[in-house]
Amino acid sequence: MKILFATSECVPFIKTGGLADVAGSLPKALKDKNTDVRVVMPLYSDILEKYRKKMKKVHEFDVGLNWRTQKCEIFSLENDGIVHYFLGNDYYFNRSGIYGYFDDGERFLFYSKAVLEMLPYIDYIPDVMHCNDWHTAIIPYLTNTHYRPHYTDMRTVLTIHNIKYQGIYGREILYEILNLKPEEINLDFEFNEAINIMKSGIYNADWITTVSPSYAKELEYEYFGEGLEGIISVNRHKMTGIINGIDYDVQNPAKDKNLYANYTRSYNKKLENKEKLLEELGLDYDENRPVIGMITRLDELKGIDLVMAVGKEIMERDVNLVLLGTGDAMYEDYFRYLESQYPGKVSARIMFDSKAASRIYAGSDIMLMPSRVEPCGLNQIIALKYGTVPIVRNTGGLGDTIFEYDEVANTGNGFKFNDYNAHEMLFEIEKAVDLYKNDSDSWKKLVANTFKCKYDWKASAKKYKEVYKNTMIRQEDENILQLT
Ligand code: GLC
Repeated sequence: MKILFATSECVPFIKTGGLADVAGSLPKALKDKNTDVRVVMPLYSDILEKYRKKMKKVHEFDVGLNWRTQKCEIFSLENDGIVHYFLGNDYYFNRSGIYGYFDDGERFLFYSKAVLEMLPYIDYIPDVMHCNDWHTAIIPYLTNTHYRPHYTDMRTVLTIHNIKYQGIYGREILYEILNLKPEEINLDFEFNEAINIMKSGIYNADWITTVSPSYAKELEYEYFGEGLEGIISVNRHKMTGIINGIDYDVQNPAKDKNLYANYTRSYNKKLENKEKLLEELGLDYDENRPVIGMITRLDELKGIDLVMAVGKEIMERDVNLVLLGTGDAMYEDYFRYLESQYPGKVSARIMFDSKAASRIYAGSDIMLMPSRVEPCGLNQIIALKYGTVPIVRNTGGLGDTIFEYDEVANTGNGFKFNDYNAHEMLFEIEKAVDLYKNDSDSWKKLVANTFKCKYDWKASAKKYKEVYKNTMIRQEDENILQLT
């Protein structure tokens, strides 16, 4: 089976969010002697020279964009046993960062078209083209319409990592970039008098997956669907929720080079990391005071408003709070303010840095994730591996991976609350802090439970393979129908 994983970001080359982690780890887990998985992504100028110098140029071709053409260079590089293709075009990708440009729509339509057109040059027509989020969500439509004569048997799968980002643009973009005729810009795209690239993907993909079973259900509701809930409902028959895993070769306190002390299921070693972390951050250390970590984009979806509503009450429980993240200025300012109000207790690092992240995973007792919406969430899964107890809101993948601790039965791996309500969150924080301070035996048992959780890719990669196979079987059925 041949799978091409088309993405806009991928670790270790470039990352803004969880999609990059999935792109960097799922293909590795899928690969076996019967599965040839490759990855394709744009060649951004921010990709480091140490990777660039290992890339080999495979080919160069022109991509026709209505009345003009743009050059596309194909480079390849093998990383961790997986072949990665990088599509280069200076006009679109020789810029800093990944997203946020006025012409992002045009940039990713070009990229998607180039992905389809490069296949003959790399001599690799996949059985399944696995698209991810809106950036590559035009591919299923283009495959079904313009490219079908060339790629007769190729199937498409679209994974929705976050439906908030849909690729909504003016109608003219489809004509100007892809030369689609007015009659082709139909219901597949229509969205409030604009066009919606994610919508076309949902209609046209042979199968849709999303990154947790709960999020798959939530997407049918207005609160989560971001205007596409109706489209999701009618396409429910071809949709599966598969929880993301993480790569325990990389995210593992036994191997993580950024830690002060490596450990495998050791509470005492974790305390060593805690003490050093607080020292590094200039915070007061007290063994009896829990450290609450937050590693997050400072975005409304992440539930930062709840923390703002009860920040003072949280700090009155005598805790340390350590934040790492960037995002909306309002939230960044709030954490700076909190740090100024509680010297020695709060650290706000308004930045992202993977070394700091590792140290916070290992040195915190609690990881707070009160997201309003969380399709999967990877941080709670990483926290579990590092023996850090998650406090989460019961939504999407957070609800699917975290279960309330029951100290009598000694079951569960964290704390969770249902409603998007600051006092419900505070109540769970109080419960956790109380257990930590007053019942350290139970706390240690809870930490031992987190260590035992296993969310690697093994089970989920198997489910993806079933999805791929199903789409291929459906195709065979259709061929038989056409023959008879
Ligand atoms: C998006 C989602 C996050 C998920 C990640 C990887 O970033 O917001 O919940 O874990 O994609 O699928």
